[in-house]
Amino acid sequence: MATQVGSNNMRKILVTSALPYANGSIHLGHLVEYIQTDIWVRFQKMQGHECYYVCADDAHGTPIMLRAQAEGITPEKLISDTSIEHQSDFKDFSVNFDNYYSTHSNENRFFAETIYNRLNDAGHISKRVISQAYDPEKKMFLPDRFIKGECPKCGAADQYGDNCEACGATYSPTELKNAVSVVSGAKPIEKDSEHYFFKLPDFESMLKEWTGSGHLQDEISNKLQEWFDAGLQEWDISRDAPYFGFEIPNSNGKFFYVWLDAPIGYIASFKNLCDSSRGIKEGIDFDAFWESDSQTELYHFIGKDIVYFHGLFWPAILHGAGFRTPTAIFSHGFLTVDGQKMSKSRGTFIKARTYLDELNPEYLRYYFAAKLGSGVTDLDLNLEDFRLRVNSDLVGKVVNIASRCAGFIKKKFNSTLSENISEPELFARFADASASIGEHYEKREFSKAIREIMALADLANQYIDDKKPWQMIKEEGKEQEVHDVCSMGLNLFRQLIIYLSPVLPVMAEKTADFLNLNSMLWDDMQTPLTKHAIKKFKPLMMRVEEDKIQAMVDASKEELKVIDKAEVNKKKSSTDNEKTSSKETSTALAEPVSEMISFDDFAKIDLRIAKIIKAEHVEKADKLLQLTLDIGGETRNVFAGIKSAYQPEDLEGKLTVMVANLAPRKMRFGISEGMVLAAGPGGKDLWILNPDEGAQPGMRVK
Ligand code: MSP
Ligand code: ZN
Repeated sequence: MATQVGSNNMRKILVTSALPYANGSIHLGHLVEYIQTDIWVRFQKMQGHECYYVCADDAHGTPIMLRAQAEGITPEKLISDTSIEHQSDFKDFSVNFDNYYSTHSNENRFFAETIYNRLNDAGHISKRVISQAYDPEKKMFLPDRFIKGECPKCGAADQYGDNCEACGATYSPTELKNAVSVVSGAKPIEKDSEHYFFKLPDFESMLKEWTGSGHLQDEISNKLQEWFDAGLQEWDISRDAPYFGFEIPNSNGKFFYVWLDAPIGYIASFKNLCDSSRGIKEGIDFDAFWESDSQTELYHFIGKDIVYFHGLFWPAILHGAGFRTPTAIFSHGFLTVDGQKMSKSRGTFIKARTYLDELNPEYLRYYFAAKLGSGVTDLDLNLEDFRLRVNSDLVGKVVNIASRCAGFIKKKFNSTLSENISEPELFARFADASASIGEHYEKREFSKAIREIMALADLANQYIDDKKPWQMIKEEGKEQEVHDVCSMGLNLFRQLIIYLSPVLPVMAEKTADFLNLNSMLWDDMQTPLTKHAIKKFKPLMMRVEEDKIQAMVDASKEELKVIDKAEVNKKKSSTDNEKTSSKETSTALAEPVSEMISFDDFAKIDLRIAKIIKAEHVEKADKLLQLTLDIGGETRNVFAGIKSAYQPEDLEGKLTVMVANLAPRKMRFGISEGMVLAAGPGGKDLWILNPDEGAQPGMRVK
């Protein structure tokens, strides 16, 4: 990699994370990236480098326009509300941007136009008429994800315009049978319009050289090689009105495609920082970071799904428009929870805020750090492992050192550390680890850094176990030794916290306060604290409680919740982006489609006709009714969120359809042994399925 490890000179570094879409909430998957970047940036700043971390909301495009329409608000209002929400989530996870901006800004418009004009002047833009699907009712062109119909190959219903999730076929939306616009339900027609293209093939030799010279992880440059082999294509950078974005200069109503101006948002956010009062005061030099022969470093942290945009289009565009290219692009894998893709029905599609409502953000920062390396492999949040690991490492090992030593210092030694450092070799061993731990951080091998830090924590605990200050204190004449041992313990604790501070900034701050220090700098670990007055020890971190994790998962589950329509649409757009963040996606006025399941998954669902033999209110539950269902010789107890639509007496004796093989779930009111199927937006408008009279309890539904 083109990083300058071990250089003593102060480096000038600009760092970005990918810009989250402005129509969905931040979730734990996103946080892998923002936490990874934040740790790296905090580490660089601790080394005394001039380092800036900028980001922004990605505010343009069709999904955002349609989502605002569905909510009856302007796109401006939508993106400003989302920006506030995103920023408060990031702040509460200690993701410390130097600037957080929006792609819908004057600076971004300026740079998008400048870059486009330069590319155009240099002959890198072409125009031609293409024919596309068009919604005649809504009067708009339809991106592939906004068209649904039957697969031309296998006939599966409800497939998107670009590929079939049932048989895997790819095709163009015009080939779909009985296609409809997701936006209006109208039958799309074909319509011509002129589009603008960025001539990517002009940059083939530049890109081959760039992608092969240390700016990318090996896995990624190999992937890009496949794209070269397939041949570079011109890239369509224009969209027709109506579109929420920037108009292309002199184009007569064409707009920049969201992915053209999104990465330019990195430049715009940094420019906005330079022009802020802080930027002016500190003299942050915009040109030094972006001119073509810049000597500064530029890093983009991104997910593996958006490598195409950052590894090919972006360097070509920058180069073509006379800007510097990135020093490196650092991509990471995707988050899974308990070994599977995040899922709403399992309650593992967890929003940042849902997590924050229950758990300490530093647990997650630590867990991600403990699992992150420099590669692009996916990362699993195993909720049980998460709890055990945080409890054993942070609470059991690290904080334990302080709590074992602090009491004696306060009670017996007037809250002051001793004059001696009793084991200089041990202290030096901790200090000497700085080079290798620092190098792990630098190379984004956070899991290796954590492993080394925890090995030191083990040594510190072993030291205290060996000395047993709690026994010595009862012995005659051992006062001084107890003082020395506990002071030594707290010095080791301080060194550990310095190493952990890029990961655990809040814990580091609390520790600085407890140790009565103004700051915690990386090099402080070289000098022990002696004859130093400390403050009262307060518990620095509580254990992760199992029931808090369960509460978070329950709050993330949507199965039994009756949600109103606006909420449905809101969630829809965020899952869509999750699935296909590189494509335009549907905000759907129709009901949301959840993640796709395979036919095999579907075949596992055992649907049965059930007869409601009893229906009762559930005390203290506002949404649930308790149903006793007969599925042909077997009865089941099921809690259903249908109280808003039904009186229990109306249900008794009716037939309905249930999922008979859903694993029993423990709920607050008892065990639910399955689920009944219902349709509707919620409230009074909710109907349980009502099969014909001829159906018999227990019959299979297929
Ligand atoms: N708006 C684009 C990025 C434009 S950058 C010029 C986008 N937005 S996103 O909200 O879908 O994703 C933002 C970042 O979060 C991306 O880097 C994406 O890879 C990352 N992640 C989103 N879901 C993720 C997981 N489940 N796991 C790990 N990272 C994930 O893409
Ligand atoms: Zn198909």
